[in-house]
Amino acid sequence: MLSEKMVNVLNEQINKEMYSAYLYMSMSAYSTYIGLKGFANWFMIQYQEEMIHAMKIYDYVNDQGAQVKLMAIEKSPTEFESPMDMFEKTLEHEKFVTKSINDLVDLAIKENDHATQIFLQWFVTEQIEEEANDNDIIAKLKLAGKEGNGLFMIDKELAARKFKSE
Ligand SMILES: [Fe+2]
Ligand SMILES: [Fe+2]
Repeated sequence: MLSEKMVNVLNEQINKEMYSAYLYMSMSAYSTYIGLKGFANWFMIQYQEEMIHAMKIYDYVNDQGAQVKLMAIEKSPTEFESPMDMFEKTLEHEKFVTKSINDLVDLAIKENDHATQIFLQWFVTEQIEEEANDNDIIAKLKLAGKEGNGLFMIDKELAARKFKSE
């Protein structure tokens, strides 16, 4: 049984995951527009993963007999300065999501809600991986410089990312 407050924050988290999906879909669209198909692929897979995160919480709220309430999804930016700009914004956004997950865990601990604590462990681990991936790509982009061969190589590498469903 989830507290009313917990249901509210879980519903808000569904919205944050949906916004994440929307943001990365927008970055994918922009990448396609500027001719970086590998980046477009990477961000579209990121979009798919975020939709799965939203669905995990959706299923959890349902399984606990509480009501999922969907909210308006904020408009995401449509223009980006560069591939670096997109990944810096991605990392910044993931840090915001990490904080949000941590706040959820804090609430679950405060409420002695063991089920939600265990449920959230997956997200805690996932956020470490998300931030690590973004930091890794940012480091590569720094090495590559703004354009030319380096960027082309990274685009090729990001083209190879495949969606893994669990
Ligand atoms: Fe997520
Ligand atoms: Fe994420």
